[in-house]
This record gives sequence, C-alpha cells and structure tokens, in this order.
Amino acid sequence: SQVQDINKEKTAKAKNMAFAFDIDGVLAHGNHAIEEAKIALKMLNGDNELGIRIPHILLTNGGGKTEEARCAQLSEILEQPISTDQFIQSHTPMQALAEYYETVLVLGGEGFKIREVAENYGFKNVVHPKDLVAWDPTISPWTTLTDAERAEAKPRDFSQMKFDAIMVFADSRDYQTDFQVIMDLLLADDGKIMTKAKDPVATRIPIYFSQGDLLMPTEHKGLPRLTQGAFRISVEAQYKTLTGVDLERVVYGKPERATYTYADEVMKAWMEELHGVARLPDNIYMIGDNPASDIIGGNMYGWNTCLVRTGVFQGKEGENDPNSPANFGVFNNVLEAVKAAIAKEL
Ligand code: G3P
Ligand code: MG
Repeated sequence: SQVQDINKEKTAKAKNMAFAFDIDGVLAHGNHAIEEAKIALKMLNGDNELGIRIPHILLTNGGGKTEEARCAQLSEILEQPISTDQFIQSHTPMQALAEYYETVLVLGGEGFKIREVAENYGFKNVVHPKDLVAWDPTISPWTTLTDAERAEAKPRDFSQMKFDAIMVFADSRDYQTDFQVIMDLLLADDGKIMTKAKDPVATRIPIYFSQGDLLMPTEHKGLPRLTQGAFRISVEAQYKTLTGVDLERVVYGKPERATYTYADEVMKAWMEELHGVARLPDNIYMIGDNPASDIIGGNMYGWNTCLVRTGVFQGKEGENDPNSPANFGVFNNVLEAVKAAIAKEL
C-alpha cells in the first residue's frame, strides 16, 4: 500500500542519518540530566513513528573516569542505555599512544581515578603526581596529602625512573602540584626527574592534552567556568618564561581532527551494530553547545551542526555564533534540534 511504501522510504532515509552528541551543556550539566535530552534519546532509541533506532554517538571533551564508569553514570541519569561502543571521551583516542610510551605521568580528574583509565588503555607504568608527592613531599611545597590520598598513592623510587611522556587527561584538581611536576619533567634531561637538561628542547619528553576547551558549562549561574585549555595556556606560559622557547604540545578532543577520524570508526561500528552495515551515514548531525569546539569541529568535518542554548553559548533568540555559526541552526535545546533534523531527513 501507499502507507507501506512511504514508511519504507522513510526507513531507508532514517538509516542514512546519525547524531553525534556533546554531553556537557547538551545532555547534562555535570551529574544532572537536561530533561529534554531524556526525551530526545528515547526518541532515537525507537520511540518514533517508524519504531527504529537512529544511531547516535556521544562525543565529549569531558574525561577523568573510565568509559565504563561514565557510561553507567550517564545511563542512570539519562534513563536510557548508553553503551561504551557509542561513547568517546576526550582521552579515549589517546589509548593508541600506549604503544609508544611505557612510563607516563598521567593527571587530572577526581582522586586517583585517572590511573585506572590509563592502565586500561595499556600504559604499563602509570605515575600520578601525588605518587611523587608521597615519595618526596618537598616536591610540592603547599600540598599535604590526606590520609586517604597517602593510602592510595603509589610511591616508588622515582630517582631512577625515566618518564616517556606527560598526559593531561582531565581538569587538574591540584594546580600547584600538577604545574610543578609537569615543569620538573619538561625541564628535566630526558624525563629523569630531579635532573635539568642543558638544552631545553633536545631531550624534552612530549606532553599531551586530552582537550583544548577554555570554557565549560556548569550549573553556575554566571559566566562559563574555565577548564583544561586555561590550564594548558598556563603551562605554556610558564615553560616559555622559564626557557624562552615555545612549548610544542599535542592536543586531542574536539575540534582536533584526530578525534573526528576516531569518531568515524566508532560511528561505522555502531551503524553495523544497529543497522547491520559498517558504513558512515550520509547525514551526520552534531549537536553541541560550544561554538569553539563542537561547532567549528563539526563544520570543518562536513557534519550538519546544531548549536543549543543550554550550555556555553549564550546568544540571544535568533542569533547564531558570529565566529563559528552552526550550519543547521540554533535551537533552545537538544530535543528541538533532534526533531528538526529528523523532520529535515525523513
Ligand atoms: O570542557 C570540558 C568538558 O566539560 C566539555 O564536555 O561534553 O561539552 O564536550 P563536552
Ligand atoms: Mg558541551
């Protein structure tokens, strides 16, 4: 019948589209879901006129916990299942680096959670800045470890250890210690702590940052809060001032290309899981709140971009971002964006 033909056509179109969602400022604020996000995800999980699942991946610059832990937390607050197979956080693509570096300083995030993240990625010898403080408290003049931190820290004989790389995986929770230890290793001779290189560049070990956002949305009512980009700029300025040399560094996360090529692989595999074909759909919609990462990155990568008003972007009704305008439009929230994309494609 005609109705069946129309549904068949719509189903084919639905199978040729997918979404990439930002998390903070789009689906949630910290650990609180944005109400419209619950409805949007439910819709994409089959609660729609065709009763089919529309693939969506989560592409966040957040991090600090294992993928399993974060997906479990998101599934609970969003009341929809989120699989690690559809999930990319800022440091997820950095697991590829485990092939090149064995001993790494890894920092950021709550407590020592980042250690498990890095070990899951295959890094063999993971050192947390507070392991160094537990070994030699004079390393960080203003930090005193709590009893709990002392119990969890893993001091070893670091005097003989050679670090291969520095990895910032999430926001620092102890700027002073983290700045100091990073600077110690950048200035050291070939990653040997407590040494000083004669030439600041020749034997310097590499430093990686999991994402470059300067600002992030939170529940705070005033301006957006500073995040890892602000920490990185400070590291760069300290290094330049101490050595006179610009710091070379690598940044992952949106809007860096490596993150999008990684997202393509995840998207293909998720398409196969849902629709049985490992290919990219022609129409990918990125829904984000930060013009300087989500929107500029999606625009450069040929995705349709939707900017929402529930996060970093604080433009007025009818305004797009002047520097990185969303090419599909600006929406009050994620649900409006999802509905508009579906209406356009089907
Ligand atoms: O910028 C830090 C982080 O909170 C951003 O997360 O999900 O908005 O990319 P997201
Ligand atoms: Mg965001």
